[in-house]
Amino acid sequence: MATSLDSKIDSLAAQIQSLTAEVQNDDAARKKLLGTTMAAMGQLETPLETVWKIIMSPHAPSALMSLIKLGVIEHLAKAPAPMSSAELSKATGGDQVLIVRLCRPLLPQGIIAEVDAELYAATPITKLLTDPVIVGGYTFMFSCPSHTLTQMPQYLQDNGWKNVNGYPGPFQAAKSTKLTMWPWLCEHPDLLNHFAKFMGGQRMMRIDWFNFLPIAEMMLNGAKKNSEAVLMVDVGGGEGHDIEKFHKAFPDAPGQLVLQDLPDVIGMIKDLHPAVRRMPHDFFQEQPVTGARVYYLRSIMHDWGDDDCVKILRRIADAMTSGYSKVFLNEFILPAKDVPMYPSLLDINMMCILNGMERTEKQWIELLAKAGLRVVRFHTVQNVENEGLIEAELM
Ligand SMILES: C[S@@+](CC[C@H](N)C(=O)[O-])C[C@H]1O[C@@H](n2cnc3c(N)ncnc32)[C@H](O)[C@@H]1O
Repeated sequence: MATSLDSKIDSLAAQIQSLTAEVQNDDAARKKLLGTTMAAMGQLETPLETVWKIIMSPHAPSALMSLIKLGVIEHLAKAPAPMSSAELSKATGGDQVLIVRLCRPLLPQGIIAEVDAELYAATPITKLLTDPVIVGGYTFMFSCPSHTLTQMPQYLQDNGWKNVNGYPGPFQAAKSTKLTMWPWLCEHPDLLNHFAKFMGGQRMMRIDWFNFLPIAEMMLNGAKKNSEAVLMVDVGGGEGHDIEKFHKAFPDAPGQLVLQDLPDVIGMIKDLHPAVRRMPHDFFQEQPVTGARVYYLRSIMHDWGDDDCVKILRRIADAMTSGYSKVFLNEFILPAKDVPMYPSLLDINMMCILNGMERTEKQWIELLAKAGLRVVRFHTVQNVENEGLIEAELM
């Protein structure tokens, strides 16, 4: 390599290192720097290097899952000093050579640090990988979506390359089951437990639309104030985290708050603010709360194909009061082009485990119209890639 090129690269590396330290307390700047360096990486890689990286991509996650299950990650994270492969073998019962082989692909990404030959230490990533939320997420993803993804191309081919848009789908084929994922998980309590931890963690990272959208203008102004009036129904609201947070943000808002979900889910609730009324309800059945100001659904539509979404939405539309009631859907709203990586991957995830999908603005407008609803506005949820709130009313 020419010395002038070599020194230019060294000076760029030093600049990136110093910028990396500078952006640590500015998340927008950090993301911009990350995006810039990743884009540069894409330009630098040859097509063959990129394709090869894709071909070899399942291997490291599989090695990591093995080390999590074996307990190597946990031992390293807790150890006060680096551990040798012999010590890890003694502590976990795993074969020493196997441990060395499984650790190798994790070293270049800094998942584990190699202090010396066969001597390993935890990094911040190793430590994060012992968090129950992350372990739960990883275990669930590995056993459900990842397993289904390996079978998906064959499933799609066997089904004439038709779009997956409703039951049955790749999950049923991969798991040889007639069940959809929710009841299937109930038959696999270990995985259900991991999934629940994962969902709890995801919730902590959420940005709540009601903390920055113009709530007074969207729903409070003009809301009925009589004691029977319902301000908001959280349809399929799980254990009520969202609607409870809404109450805490707007404790003086007029009208009742109602949480609906399947009887088993409502029955599992341990703590919920008494201001929230619990109501077991199957959203494919007639909506018992008529004329609410808002029917709110978070991450429900992306679990279902179009026909099921229309059935759910029609039940709500039938209960709405024209000119007063609204539907709020908290979902990803994909742009027609330049969809970022995360929602693109989530779409494949929904396709493979639930036969559902993430939708574009155009698809939302068409879907809602089939249920007799009209989009009033697409609101953007700040800082989250394409996550938004779709405000709709009766046509
Ligand atoms: C992806 S979770 C979303 C939960 C909640 N909205 C949130 O964002 O945390 C989907 C929810 O739909 C509920 N659900 C599934 N089928 C349902 C049905 N037929 N009627 C009512 N709720 C249902 C599940 O129990 C679960 O709580």
